[in-house]
Amino acid sequence: MKIAVPKELRDGETRVAMSPDMIKKLVAMGLEVMIETGAGNRAMLLDDLYRKAGALIGANANETYSGADIVLKVRPPIRPDQGPDELAMIKSGALLIGLLEPLQNTDSVAAYAKAGVTAFAMELLPRISRAQSMDVLSSQSNLAGYKAVIEAAAAFGKAFPMMMTAAGTIAPAKVLVLGTGVAGLQAIATARRLGAIVSAFDVRLAAKEEAESLGAKFIEVINEKTQGAETKDGYAKEMSEEYKRKQKELIHETLKSQDIVITTALIPGKSAPVLITEEMVKDMNLGSVIVDLAIESGGNCSITELGKVVFRHGVTLIGHANMPGHAPVDASALYARSLVNFITPMIDPETKDLAIDWEDEIIAGTLITHDGKIVHPTLTNGEGR
Ligand code: NAI
Repeated sequence: MKIAVPKELRDGETRVAMSPDMIKKLVAMGLEVMIETGAGNRAMLLDDLYRKAGALIGANANETYSGADIVLKVRPPIRPDQGPDELAMIKSGALLIGLLEPLQNTDSVAAYAKAGVTAFAMELLPRISRAQSMDVLSSQSNLAGYKAVIEAAAAFGKAFPMMMTAAGTIAPAKVLVLGTGVAGLQAIATARRLGAIVSAFDVRLAAKEEAESLGAKFIEVINEKTQGAETKDGYAKEMSEEYKRKQKELIHETLKSQDIVITTALIPGKSAPVLITEEMVKDMNLGSVIVDLAIESGGNCSITELGKVVFRHGVTLIGHANMPGHAPVDASALYARSLVNFITPMIDPETKDLAIDWEDEIIAGTLITHDGKIVHPTLTNGEGR
């Protein structure tokens, strides 16, 4: 069985789907792995490291994809109007595994089905304990939360920790984290380590205890509807208009006393909720910084710009796309480990062939196309999350 690891072609994508360590594991399992030349360069993983780990190096995308039974990617194949037609290089019946963004790219999902590709979208992985080691969203969000604080600290004209010097005392920075899922909790922890005073907010009440355990003060919108803000999978739901109004007032007031705001609020399959308006930015302290980690889903701040750092109303607005890609070495290493954990149970150790249990909760939860059809309930009839 051949596993292909092509170079990621999306703009600004620095990560690679496999690390040399994980390739060693796959090779030890009796699989052949071919990685495209230069695929790991931006993650400091040069061809030679892969070669030493037992991988074959594909001279180009065509050679890498050719005859592959499993294709491992970070991002979805690019569309033919964006560059080389990656999907056309994948053989019918092959498995395609990656962060395929199926809810945002329904046309691409239809194309996978038409091409006879069996596609698995890692972002749909059920969040059950058995799947934790395969949870790429968690590892990437952790890094994004960390990097967001580091980027904010770099753009901030003051220090984070309280400093007592002979020339006077510097007050600690005040950091507000909006959305305390995986990225938000890591942002709280990182900001605390840097010495900031941290407040946090989330619609899910369960988030309160987690944020507080990391040393953040939790801001609550007093409303009984908060109790129902969580889906069965632990994700947030869209809130009522009344809740949104109260939340806006509270955030507006809180923002006036903050230096740094890290926003991470997401609702799966929907646009990110707008939590910070231009009016609120105008009322912030001069020199404040907002890092909008939800920017790829539309943004939590109405005036952050995708892929840009802009200065508006005295506030620096950071809208980097692909924040985990700003830490490509660790992001790739963790991503690769999760993918190996995901595919290992699919391989029969004796025959080295695919032996997929289609009924398994993890397989069924991530499988989006199979046998020429779109199969995931979230895509076929809007069920699921
Ligand atoms: P996410 O990336 O979907 O959203 C980020 C955060 O934004 C969430 O905490 C969400 O509640 C919050 N949010 C959404 N709308 C908001 C609004 N209007 N205002 C403020 N905050 C808002 O979430 P993530 O990080 O993927 O985590 C989702 C859940 O999954 C959490 O409950 C987390 O603890 C859980 N989880 C479970 C894992 C497991 O294996 N059991 C692994 C990782 C996460």
